[in-house]
Amino acid sequence: MSILAKFSQLQQTYDQLGALQPNPFAVTFEQILSSTEGVIDGRRTILLGTNNYLGLTMDADCIAQSVQALQQQGTGTTGSRVANGSYASHRALEQDLAKFFQRQHCMVFSTGYQANLGMLSTLVGRGDHLILDADSHASIYDGARLGHAEVIRFRHSDPDDLYKRLRRLKDTPGSKLIVVEGIYSMLGDLAPLREIAQVKREMGAYLMVDEAHSMGVLGEHGRGLAEAAGVEADVDFIVGTFSKSLGSVGGFCVADIEGFNVLRVACRPYMFTASLPPSIIASTRQALRHLEADATLRARLTNNANHLYEGLRELGLQVGPHASPIVSVALEDQALAVRFWNALLHNGLYLNLALPPATPSNKPLLRASVSAAHSRRQIDRAIQLFGEVAVQLGVLGTGSGAPIAMVA
Ligand SMILES: Cc1ncc(COP(=O)(O)O)c(C=O)c1O
Repeated sequence: MSILAKFSQLQQTYDQLGALQPNPFAVTFEQILSSTEGVIDGRRTILLGTNNYLGLTMDADCIAQSVQALQQQGTGTTGSRVANGSYASHRALEQDLAKFFQRQHCMVFSTGYQANLGMLSTLVGRGDHLILDADSHASIYDGARLGHAEVIRFRHSDPDDLYKRLRRLKDTPGSKLIVVEGIYSMLGDLAPLREIAQVKREMGAYLMVDEAHSMGVLGEHGRGLAEAAGVEADVDFIVGTFSKSLGSVGGFCVADIEGFNVLRVACRPYMFTASLPPSIIASTRQALRHLEADATLRARLTNNANHLYEGLRELGLQVGPHASPIVSVALEDQALAVRFWNALLHNGLYLNLALPPATPSNKPLLRASVSAAHSRRQIDRAIQLFGEVAVQLGVLGTGSGAPIAMVA
C-alpha cells in the first residue's frame, strides 16, 4: 500500500475540483498588472482575494527600498539569527514595530505562521493552559500542537463561555493564555475584545491577539482591534504578519513583558529557520512608514469595504456579521459555490473559494478581501457581477439575506 493511501479521500475531492477549468486550488496569475489587477487564463481580472489591504505590494517606495537592499546586501541571509547572526535591518525593523505598537519588545519571524507556531509553543508549556477561540486560524492550532500546554477551546467570540472555562481552572496552577484574532479570516467578523479583556482581567490570565487581518485596518493609528477597542493595556502579546497590510512576508510578536528576550533562545520556530532576506525587511519597513504616515489608506480601505459589504447585502446575499475588509458570501452547497466562483472568474473577478470543513459556518464561502487600492469602479463591477451570477444560478430570491450563522 502506498505511503499516500491515507489521503485517498482527500485525493478524490481534489481530483473532482481539479477536473474543473480552472481548478480553484491551482489558480495562476500569469501577469500582475497592479495591486488590484492581473491576468488569469489570458483574461484581465480584478483581484479581490489577495489580502493586499493597503495595496502596498506595488508601491514605488517599497519597491525602491527593496531593490536597494537587494543590491547592497544580497538575496538572502542564508541562516538563522541565533546561529548565524542578525543584520542591522532585522533589529531596526523590530525597533520600528515596537515603537509603532508602543511596546518595549519585538521579535520578528520568517512568516506569520511561524510567529504563532513559535509564541504559542513557547509561552505556555507543561502545566499551563492555552485557551483558544474555536475558530482560530490553523497556525494557532498548530502552535498549540507543537507545545505541551493543555488546550481548551471556547465557543467562537463568546466571552461567557470563555469565563465559564476559565472559572473551572480557577484553582489550577500554571499560566493561562487566551488567544483571539482581531478580524477572523473567513467571515471578517471582529472579536468582542472589550468583553474578552474584562474576563482576562477578572481571571488573571494572559491575553494574546493575532492582528494579522486587523493591523493597518482598524484603530486610529492602524494598530488593530486592541487599539480600536481601547484595550491595548489588557493585551499582553500582539502577533501579526507582514503578508497582508504590509504587502511582503514575515511575522512578529510585540510585548511589554519583562524578560521577553529569553524567547530568542527558547523559541524553536524562531531559532531553527533562516531569517528574512534584507529586501523583504526593507520593503516591510517602508510599508510600515506608509501605514503610519498616510491615514487616507485606511479611510479608503474602510470605504471600499463598507461599499462592497452593503452592496452584496442589499442584493440579498448572505454576508458575514460585520462590515470589514473581509467580505464573505455563504452559499448552500459546494457544487453551487464552485459554479458561482467559476462564473465570477470567467467574467474577470478573482476571489477565494473556501470549502468546509475549513469554514466556520460549515457552508462554502466566496471570500473577498478588499484593498484601499481598489477603485469604486472595480468594487461596483464586483457587486454587479455577483448580482448577475446569483440570478443566473438561482441563488437570489431563495436566500433570506440574513447574516451567515456563526458556529455554535
Ligand atoms: C489569523 C492569521 N494568523 C496568521 C496567519 C499566517 O500568516 P502568514 O500567511 O503571513 O504566514 C494568517 C494567514 O492567513 C492568518 O489569517
